[in-house]
Amino acid sequence: MIEEDPVISNIKSRRSVRDYADRPVSNEVIESIIDAGIHAPTGLGMQPWRFVVIKDKAIMKQMSSHCKPKLLKQLEGVNIDAAVQFKKMLKAEEFDIFYNAPVLIIVLGNKNAPTTDFDCAMCAQNMMLAAHSMGLGSCWIGTACLVQDNPEMLDKLKIPADYKVVAPLIFGYTGTVPAAPPRNEPVITWL
Ligand SMILES: Cc1cc2nc3c(=O)[nH]c(=O)nc-3n(C[C@H](O)[C@H](O)[C@H](O)COP(=O)(O)O)c2cc1C
Repeated sequence: MIEEDPVISNIKSRRSVRDYADRPVSNEVIESIIDAGIHAPTGLGMQPWRFVVIKDKAIMKQMSSHCKPKLLKQLEGVNIDAAVQFKKMLKAEEFDIFYNAPVLIIVLGNKNAPTTDFDCAMCAQNMMLAAHSMGLGSCWIGTACLVQDNPEMLDKLKIPADYKVVAPLIFGYTGTVPAAPPRNEPVITWL
């Protein structure tokens, strides 16, 4: 095993954080996080992203309220433990899919770029790692992609017609950081 350097230990110690301190995140910090994102590699060098930064709690609440019943519908009949647990959370009126985080950044991908999903996912990982290295927590909130089918919501979020929601990411100074979920041993084929 190669000796760990700071980049590798940053990668390994990042967690999906679902508990945030009541402390604002400055625009300067947000811009640094996005700047790390745009240094990701992209297919054909297209850089097919745009970003929507949401600090307005009322907008986040509206998004959460839109997504929760849709998710419950999607999970109908799914009875694995994690889904049952999640359904219980979704049914609670006070549950916020964004965990009351102070900032939501949506990475949008240009629908016309051939590798838009990959590019935006790489951008998102850069952003989460940069945030971690600046002392902030983050979590990818895939469930928020469900706003995509709501034209009113897309309008409110100022999402242009030729862009789609790829990576909704929450950021904030951390409250409780969860333990690392165990990783499965990688399956490697050596030739
Ligand atoms: C594409 C994607 C979608 C995710 N969506 C959610 C989500 O909607 N809500 C949530 O709490 N966590 C979400 N997560 C976070 C995962 O649950 C988390 O990465 C996983 O449990 C491993 O934990 P770790 O990030 O701390 O290593 C998502 C992660 C990814 C990559």
